[in-house]
Formats: sequence, structure tokens, C-alpha cells
Amino acid sequence: MITKQYIKDFESLGLGMFVHLGIYSVLGAGEWLKACRELPDEEYFPVYKKFSPDPDWAPELVKAAKNAGCKYITLTTRHHDGYSLYDTCGLNEFDAPHGCGRDLVREFVDACREQGLIPFFYHTLLDWHEPSYKTDFKAYLKYLRASVELLCKNYGKIGGLWFDGMWDKRDEDWEEDALYGLIRSYQPEAMIINNTGLSAQGALGHIELDSVTFERGKPQPINLEGSPKYIASEMCEVMADHWGYAVEDLNYKAPAQLIREVAQCRRYGANMLLNVGPMANGKLRTIDAGVLELIGQWVSYHDEAIRTPRPTGINIEGKPDDFVLQDGNTYYLFCTDLPMAGSPDVALISEGRYKDVFAFDREVRSITWLDNKEPVEFEQKDGVLTVNTVPFIYGRSLVVRVAMIEVL
Ligand code: GLC
Repeated sequence: MITKQYIKDFESLGLGMFVHLGIYSVLGAGEWLKACRELPDEEYFPVYKKFSPDPDWAPELVKAAKNAGCKYITLTTRHHDGYSLYDTCGLNEFDAPHGCGRDLVREFVDACREQGLIPFFYHTLLDWHEPSYKTDFKAYLKYLRASVELLCKNYGKIGGLWFDGMWDKRDEDWEEDALYGLIRSYQPEAMIINNTGLSAQGALGHIELDSVTFERGKPQPINLEGSPKYIASEMCEVMADHWGYAVEDLNYKAPAQLIREVAQCRRYGANMLLNVGPMANGKLRTIDAGVLELIGQWVSYHDEAIRTPRPTGINIEGKPDDFVLQDGNTYYLFCTDLPMAGSPDVALISEGRYKDVFAFDREVRSITWLDNKEPVEFEQKDGVLTVNTVPFIYGRSLVVRVAMIEVL
């Protein structure tokens, strides 16, 4: 099995931010609004004239991502409505230069580079605007490749391309060889990802693809059986129900749940790509910014545990949500939902509920909580390690707590 370094490097990024920004953001009812509410073309498409993010949208967004602990950002450079945030250089006039007079992808890439994050480009495969998508599929594929070529050659080195929408015409020949070959010719080390959608979570695809996707799913160990090369995995997750800005979407997940999901992704070696749908001015709504802030706080304590450490498959007796990652001589024990001191649950410690017990044959030198650097009591006997996962001290409750195990 071939292992490529850039795929390994991608895995070590751990956490990324997904950004759904487009003309749908102006209408504030999700990115599928046109299709789901059957808005006629003449009502929907002209909205692009009104779409003009604030001048500082990109640096602000990148800053929020960075503070949340994200190492890369995947921006919707063109979503299903066919509008391009980049300069299509004459392919059509349905792009940002003809709308707001700017190249928004350029602004995004510049902001990422300035703040040290890696830009990735989401690109739709299906298209509601380009007529050839319905009438002349071969011609459409040429248009698609010409579009992708612009993204590959005009914005410097990018982290990768993230395609979405092939499921719309499952039985068509999408000429994937040509599409991916084109990307490789300009960006040999770009991750090429093609979202399998909700129905085929984690499925292996074309040989050029570098990662499987788990859309809003529970990440699973990837099954590399039959794969000639090593590939990564990534789970994209939405904070509420829509990817694009939706004013009336109140169905937000609790930050605690998202923190658990970051941890569960890492358990299987997957990256988590957490979505935000900024408003039309490119700014985050208050709740999105707040959720990112909390996640960033959690990451600030646990950063080293969620990047390079890899899955071990160690099972913790009776604790299905706890798990262990490894990075050389350092192991990381992820403990989920520990109680807080002062709560009645704490009495249960004496019954041994707050102990993590698992088979471990390396000799332990020390165990330390990552969040406050305090030592953790443990006992090692006959190949079994018992870790005393005491509650949080009163005043803190970090959802998932990580103990660092150093071995001799
Ligand atoms: C789905 C949706 C799309 C969204 C994507 C994100 O494929 O069609 O709107 O961009 O999920 O993963």
C-alpha cells in the first residue's frame, strides 16, 4: 500500500473549518433554498448583485477559525447554485467580480496565508445555473474542468479540493480521471476529496481520492481493504440543520456535543470539518462565534492530543466513549463526561466508577492531565493499567478530559 506524506500531513491537521458562503447567504434560509422552495431563476439568480461581504470578512473569519483551533478552512468557492466566489476569467459572468467587483477567493486565500491556515476549496459538481449541466453533459464537464483549472493555477499552493454533488447524476460518466489528473498536474500535493453524501458514508472511491468523507455521520474506522493506497478520513459537521446561513434555524447542537465529536473523530483518525454559515456580510452570527470560542478553549488545553496521535484500538472496560491515542512513547487517554467535584455523583468514585481500566503492556512512567498539568494516580499490574480519573475540581467542566501517559 502506498503512503503519501501529504495525506499523513492532512490527518495531523485534526480540525478544520467549513465555510458555506454564497448568494444564498443574502436570503438567509440555507444553501438549498432555491431548489427546496422552487424559486424561479429570475427571482433567485439576480440576488448575486446584492452579495457583497464586508471588506474584512476573510481576515475576521480566518481569525475565528484559528482561535477555534482549526488548521485549515474549506470554503465554498462555488456551490450548487453555480455562483463562483472566484474570477471565472470569462467562463461566465455569474461570479464575484461581476457581482461585488472583487475576487472573494483571492481575499480568502490571502487571509489564510497571512494567518498561517491552509486554504481548501469546496467545489460543486452539480449545477443549477449552467445550462449545459442539463442539456449537454460533456460540454458541462469541460466547463467544470476549466473552472477547476482556474482554482488550481491562480491561487498558489492550496491544501486541497473538496467536491460535492456527484450523487445528483450517479449513472453519468463524470470523467473523473480527467478532472483529478488536471488537479494533479497543477497541485500534485493537494488533497482530492469527493463527498459521498449521506448515503455512502466512508465509501472508498476513485483511486486519486485522498480521503473518505463521513457527512454528519458517526466517524468509523476506515476500511482500507482493497485500497492500493493509504487514505485519510474526514467528517464534516453542521452546527444546526443548514450549512448556509439560515436565520430561522434554531436547531443548534450543544457545544459539548461538538467537543465530543471532535474527540470521537480523532478516535478513528478522522479530521473534523466544522461548518459555519456566515451572514451575507461574511460575518458570523453570534452563536456561531460563541460555539467556536468554546471549542477553541477546549482545543487550547488539548491541542497536542488531537493532531499527530493516532488510534490504538485499546478498549476501556465498561466505558465505550473513552479511548487511547498514541504518538511514539506518549499515549493520550480521552475521558468523556467526568463529573465535577461537588456534584452528588462524586460519591461514586469510591465505588470505582471513575477509574479507567485497560490492558496496557508498556511500563508507565507518569500520567498527567493535559488541562491543568496535575499528576494522575494509577496502578499497573499484570498488564492492566488502572487510571484514577478523578472529577474536575469545582469550577471547571471540560466535557472531554485528556490524560497524557508517558511510558519508559
Ligand atoms: C450536502 C449538501 C450541500 C452541502 C454539503 C456539505 O452535500 O448538498 O449543500 O454543501 O452537504 O457537506
